[in-house]
Amino acid sequence: MAGETTHNLRGDYSGMRPDYTVEQVWSAYTPEDHALWRRLYARQAALVPRYACREFIDSLAALDFGDAIPRFDAVNAKLSAATGWRLVAVPGLLPDAAFFGHLANRRFPVTVWLRSPGEFDYIVEPDVFHDFFGHVPLLFDAVFADYLEAYGKGGIKAQELGAIEMLSRLYWYTVEFGLIETPAGIRAYGAGILSSGGELPYCVDSDEPNRIGFDLLRIMRTRYKIDTYQESYFVIREFRELFEATAPDFTPYYAQLAGRAPYAPGEVLPSDRLAKKGGGGASPPMPS
Ligand code: PHE
Ligand code: CO
Repeated sequence: MAGETTHNLRGDYSGMRPDYTVEQVWSAYTPEDHALWRRLYARQAALVPRYACREFIDSLAALDFGDAIPRFDAVNAKLSAATGWRLVAVPGLLPDAAFFGHLANRRFPVTVWLRSPGEFDYIVEPDVFHDFFGHVPLLFDAVFADYLEAYGKGGIKAQELGAIEMLSRLYWYTVEFGLIETPAGIRAYGAGILSSGGELPYCVDSDEPNRIGFDLLRIMRTRYKIDTYQESYFVIREFRELFEATAPDFTPYYAQLAGRAPYAPGEVLPSDRLAKKGGGGASPPMPS
């Protein structure tokens, strides 16, 4: 993801190419790395049937990468055939311009290093498990894949317009923490939840967070926290809704939002279409 702070970045940025890519030196992963990967994968894969959207479930099953840290090249053969996307190996978080440039050209940057065993439950920075398990399956969905490319192109434009903060909120509340309505109920499609053992059940089952119908301008005006479970999630009906709502030129939206104070992460507005109100299950008063 982009738009984060770049404090103490963990990856090795020394040998990278100008576009921030590196080789994935697969032979450098240790048996302990692969064992930790298997544990991470097994925990998440067990949650997916209950909490993930159908598109994610189906891709994950077809990919079958639970036994070891995947070789990006092997996945690329399947991925390019499916949607024309390609994974590129990177040392870690990228500057916005480099990140947007990859997405705009249907290249998804995947961090090469894996977290330490002590970070089994929680990690702030994206590692190969988050990037791969969370993001790669939906790159196989044609509509979602198009949305992500459009987002990359939109990022390049937002930089020129000084609107990165607004656009980053959209990434956060869709690509990272998005929920989707399905016939079976609300399910997750955001990578930040799909790669989290705790937040994946929480975002669907808990009465605490707000689940608010997708609203583009409202999202671009809503701050987010990076170090706690989300207080609000935004719910789409289908990936096409994302693609179509974001198709117009954002220039007038940015102008309209500029100078308006952002909403707090947990704020609920009278105009919100609530999929399910948070706050310990309290329901709004019935009209009498
Ligand atoms: N339509 C947006 C613009 O003109 C670009 C965009 C597409 C942004 C998809 C986000 C997601 O800036
Ligand atoms: Co991510």
